Amino acid sequence: MKQEMMTIVCQKQLAPRIYQMTLTGELVKEMKIPGQFVHIKVPRADLLLRRPISLNQIDIENKTCTIIYRVEGDGTRVFSEMIAGEKLDVMGPLGNGFDVSGLKEGQKAYVVGGGIGIPPMYELSKQLNERGVEVVHFLGYASKEVAYFQDEFSAIGNTYFATDDGSLGVHGNVGHLLKDAVKNEQPDVVYACGANGMLKAVAEIFSDKKDVFLSMEQRMACGMGACYACVCHVKEDETGTKSVKVCDEGPIFRASEVVL
Ligand code: FAD
Ligand code: FES
Repeated sequence: MKQEMMTIVCQKQLAPRIYQMTLTGELVKEMKIPGQFVHIKVPRADLLLRRPISLNQIDIENKTCTIIYRVEGDGTRVFSEMIAGEKLDVMGPLGNGFDVSGLKEGQKAYVVGGGIGIPPMYELSKQLNERGVEVVHFLGYASKEVAYFQDEFSAIGNTYFATDDGSLGVHGNVGHLLKDAVKNEQPDVVYACGANGMLKAVAEIFSDKKDVFLSMEQRMACGMGACYACVCHVKEDETGTKSVKVCDEGPIFRASEVVL
């Protein structure tokens, strides 16, 4: 993990409140594993905590990385108002990331994303595809209006959509899509990132499968394992007191490990 003042190469709005920002710097050389995140300082003196944002794309050759974020509060609003040429204090890459090393050519991976949990799944899919793994995407959005990256995912593998209002794909959530899909086939591995309810549904549907990897989200402070702000509880702990730190032991855990 390193820290650098990275330069914004470009920023564009993908959908209402959703922005894509590309950054350049030496730090990109450290970025290899999909599912890792960067911890970004908001350039405003009263906002002390860094904001954790997942890596959406890594381009080592051109020394750029891309993030996609939704404007939620003051920090992300400040990011959205920045322009090319401005600099951001970035720490990273942080977290363990998705383990793709065990997968072989010809195997099948289900890649599941919901809302603002979708960005890190793109770099994951790209890397799986490069290894010859067949990827199938299941993406959930609130509505067509706030959907993004449909074409990018579709270019890599079969992609199914669900929206809360039925304006794109099936009416409902990705759980409905997954239940339908597993009637006909079983993937070798499942990766998911999204709201807790979605992660619970994925864990339930694939409860008999070992290789189900979930990206957990917790509020963070230090982002590197020192402050214990980001703990979540682990399963099979009779005392109910054992926990793991999402920032450095995660954010990716096997579904069988953590309490959702
Ligand atoms: P405020 O609500 O004003 O934030 C106040 C404080 O709460 C800040 O310290 C902020 O960091 C924290 N906070 C608020 N919401 C969240 C949240 N959902 N998760 C964690 N901390 C939060 N969002 C994206 O849009 N795209 C991503 O790729 C992305 N990746 C993430 C990866 C990880 C590992 C984690 C933990 C979160 C990720 N988030 C992502 C959520 C993102 O960090 C928050 O939306 C963002 O910090 C909100 O900051 P704010 O100042 O705009 O909002
Ligand atoms: Fe400090 Fe995880 S945020 S230990």
